[in-house]
Amino acid sequence: MAMATATSCSEHATGDGSKQGYCVSCHTAATHTGPAFRLKWAGRPLSDLFSYVHTNMPKNDPASLDDSQYGVLLAYILQMNRMPAGKTPLSPDSTALAKIRIDTIRTVSINSVS
Ligand code: HEC
Repeated sequence: MAMATATSCSEHATGDGSKQGYCVSCHTAATHTGPAFRLKWAGRPLSDLFSYVHTNMPKNDPASLDDSQYGVLLAYILQMNRMPAGKTPLSPDSTALAKIRIDTIRTVSINSVS
């Protein structure tokens, strides 16, 4: 997912009128990286987070983006949480996503060791 993520990241940050600008009108990066986010999502399958965002976000216009846009956003959220990049690009396929566990614990334990 490395290449696609890098692109989506800068688009998201600038909020240049692309669909992803919707998210930053309500969210800062901290919304998706703080302790509350970790507590809620750690250990759950990635498909849970995908369907949550797909069903509920943007809050003012839920499910208004297409699957690939939600896939890019998901990759972006994971990147912000410094999760290990996968070997294959993230696909918005729920069966594939159900096999990936959200692993925010790893970041926390690395930090506390060093
Ligand atoms: C109109 C404001 C608004 C917009 C736009 C918006 N959100 Fe949200 N989002 C919220 C609110 C409020 C919550 C808190 C949960 C709730 O009330 O549903 C939330 C919660 C979330 C969460 C869960 C955070 C957690 O700690 O569990 C994620 C992930 C998320 N939003 C992603 C996105 C993404 C990705 C987009 C862009 C497609 C987006 N949001 C656009 C208002 C918004």
